[in-house]
Amino acid sequence: MWLYLAVLVGLYLLRRWYLERQRVPNLTEKYVLITGCDSGFGNLLARQLDARGLRVLAACLTESGAARLRAAASSRLQTLVLDVTSSQSIAAATAWVEGQVGDRGLWGLVNNAGIALPTAPNEWLRKEDFVRVLNVNLVGLVEVTLSFLPLVRRARGRVVNVASAAGRITFFGGGYCPSKYGVEAFSDSLRRELRPFGVHVAIVEPGCFRTPIVDTEVVRQSIAHVWSRCPDEVRQAYGHSYFSTYNSDFLRLLSTANSNLSLVTSAMEHALTAEHPCTRYTCGLDAKLYYIPLSYLPSSWTDRFLCSSALKPAGSA
Ligand SMILES: *[C@@H]1O[C@H](CO)[C@@H](O)[C@H](O)[C@H]1NC(C)=O
Ligand SMILES: *[C@@H]1O[C@H](CO)[C@@H](O)[C@H](O)[C@H]1NC(C)=O
Repeated sequence: MWLYLAVLVGLYLLRRWYLERQRVPNLTEKYVLITGCDSGFGNLLARQLDARGLRVLAACLTESGAARLRAAASSRLQTLVLDVTSSQSIAAATAWVEGQVGDRGLWGLVNNAGIALPTAPNEWLRKEDFVRVLNVNLVGLVEVTLSFLPLVRRARGRVVNVASAAGRITFFGGGYCPSKYGVEAFSDSLRRELRPFGVHVAIVEPGCFRTPIVDTEVVRQSIAHVWSRCPDEVRQAYGHSYFSTYNSDFLRLLSTANSNLSLVTSAMEHALTAEHPCTRYTCGLDAKLYYIPLSYLPSSWTDRFLCSSALKPAGSA
C-alpha cells in the first residue's frame, strides 16, 4: 500500500518535472514587451531574455533609463519610452510595437511597471496618495493590457502580470496592497476569458525584494513627509512615538528584503518560455512560507500575527 503510494507520488512528480522543463520552440523569433525596465525586476528580465536570444522590447519611463539598458544589452534589444499612466503614451507605444512585430504578433506582455510609495497608516494619507499608486499599478496595467491584447492574441502568446504577496494579504496601509489585490482580480478574469484564444495569463507574486522602488532612504523620507503634513489633530492622536515605531518597524521589514531578484525574473522567464506555464508564481521564502500561508488563516488569526503590539497611540498605556 505505502509502496504503491510512493510510486504514484514519484510518477506524479516526475511528470510534473518533465512538463515544467518543456520549452516553447523558436524563442529567438519571439517578441516580448516588458514595462518598467528602468530598474529592478524589469531591467534584469530584459537583460536576461536578451541573453536567451528573445527579441526584447523594453519599455522605460525615462530616456536615461532606456539608454543605460541599451548600453548593457545586445543590439537585438530595443527600447521605447512609456508612461503607463498616459493614454497617449500607451497608444503611441502600441503603434510602434505593432510596426515591429507585424503579423507575428506579440508573444509576451510583461506588466511589471509599479511604484510603492507613499506607504503609511491610511489615516495619514490623502486621496491623491492612493490615486497615484493605483494609477500606475492597476489602472495603467489594465490600459496597457487592453491596448496590447490584439497583438498578443495574434501570437497566441502570454500575459505576465506582476502582483505581489501583498495582493493576497495586506500588511501595510496605502494604495499599494489594494492595487495588487486589483491586479490579482483582473488577472483571474482575464485568464479565464483568454484561455479559449490560446493566450495564457500568469500572475507573479514576489515577497519582499530589495528593488529601487523601496529604497530605504526614499521610504524613510516618504513616511516622514506624510507624517509632517498630517493635520495637528491626527499627529496628536497618534503621537510621535507611534510615528517612530511605525518608521522603524517598516525599515526593519525592508532590511529583511531578499536581494536575489533573479528568483522573480526566472519565474517570469518560465511563464514566457515554458510549454506549460503555471498560473501563479510565488517568489521568495517569505511569501511561500509566511505571507501566502497566513492569507489562508481566519482573519482574526492573521490580525493577531500582523498587529504590532508596539504600535500604541498617544496617551494609551
Ligand atoms: C520555427 O521556425 C521555423 C523557421 O522559421 C519554421 O519552419 C518552424 O515551423 C517553426 N516552428 C514552430 C513550432 O513554430
Ligand atoms: C539566486 O536565485 C537563483 C534562482 O533563480 C539561483 O540560481 C542563485 O543561486 C541565487 N543566487 C544567490 C546568490 O543566492
